[in-house]
Amino acid sequence: MLSNGYVSGAFVNYFHRAAREGFFAPGRVNLIGEHIDYNGGYVFPYALHIGVHCAIAVRNDRALRLFSENYPDAGVREYDLDDLRFQGCWADYPVSVVKTLQALGYKPENGCDIFICADLPDGAGLSSSAALEVAFAKTLRRIFGFPLTDQEIAFIGKFAENHFIGVNCGIMDQFVSAMAQPDRALLLNTAALDYEYVPLKNAAVVVVNTGIRHALAASAYNTRRRECESACGAIGVSALCSLSPQEFDARSHLITDAVCRKRAHHAVYENDRVLRAADAMKQGDLARFGELMNESHASLKEDYEVSCEELDFLAETAQKMPGVYGARMTGGGFGGCTVNLVEPTAVKRFVSDIQAAYESRSGVRPDVYL
Ligand code: GLA
Repeated sequence: MLSNGYVSGAFVNYFHRAAREGFFAPGRVNLIGEHIDYNGGYVFPYALHIGVHCAIAVRNDRALRLFSENYPDAGVREYDLDDLRFQGCWADYPVSVVKTLQALGYKPENGCDIFICADLPDGAGLSSSAALEVAFAKTLRRIFGFPLTDQEIAFIGKFAENHFIGVNCGIMDQFVSAMAQPDRALLLNTAALDYEYVPLKNAAVVVVNTGIRHALAASAYNTRRRECESACGAIGVSALCSLSPQEFDARSHLITDAVCRKRAHHAVYENDRVLRAADAMKQGDLARFGELMNESHASLKEDYEVSCEELDFLAETAQKMPGVYGARMTGGGFGGCTVNLVEPTAVKRFVSDIQAAYESRSGVRPDVYL
């Protein structure tokens, strides 16, 4: 995590005055429970120590001026608080948060100078956009005194992304970014929105980045959602994860489209795996947790078809390495990262072995986050 001193110093550099408020929001890995936060399922994300920092000072006029250290070439982007128009650049994300707040009646009284910097890679499936939305919304809440809870902040981020950015994501990423606690994973029931924190003991979470982002990721994501909705219609439920595996097996023949049936099979069985994985974690059965991670990867590859060669290589190679309990792709898929649950004493060797294996296959040394 970048220090507060770094962030306030950088703010002064760019805006030539001091910031008044700032917030950090973390990125996440999802340990298990993939592509079911929009199917009413359980998910089990874990916040990273890297994320997005936001610093703000209020202005005397109605201008929003935004600068991101991660997009220096974009320069300072300027928007009019009374007529927010998207500019097709990174700043549309925070601006869509302002639009959502305004629609809900939370109207910033003045313009602001806004500085963003992230130590989280963009487009790596670690929720950099959710972290940006949450860090910015929390900063605005503080500076303008909006009476919003952390959960409401999460929903504002999701709304902004769904309605203004056009990604039909679920609630997982914004929820964990807004609600995370250190060293504890968040077990979230996305249907009832109840949740609990589960400590991660005696295991290290190692994230390995393929460095790849396939172009079809966003459109394929929305297609998967539609396939799940069509399976729901065929089977007569409002959410796939309301079914147990047994109930699903008894009714799956009602889904006549073979592709939609496979998608639904993944969702129902993945939800069941999350519940079993959470029990295993609570009982300290890391071997069992790891097996469920491996099964999750296979299901995302075969049934949900959101993996890719690079992710399969990293996950399947890691699964055979000593000291690795389990490995799988994490996030939306089609590139991005794998998450690996590793015995603490084996981490050093695992990191150098997996980096070497990926490098000899692709010529690129993958980034690793511990
Ligand atoms: C993306 C979305 C999440 C979730 C995951 C897949 O990260 O933003 O809502 O659907 O993909 O589990």
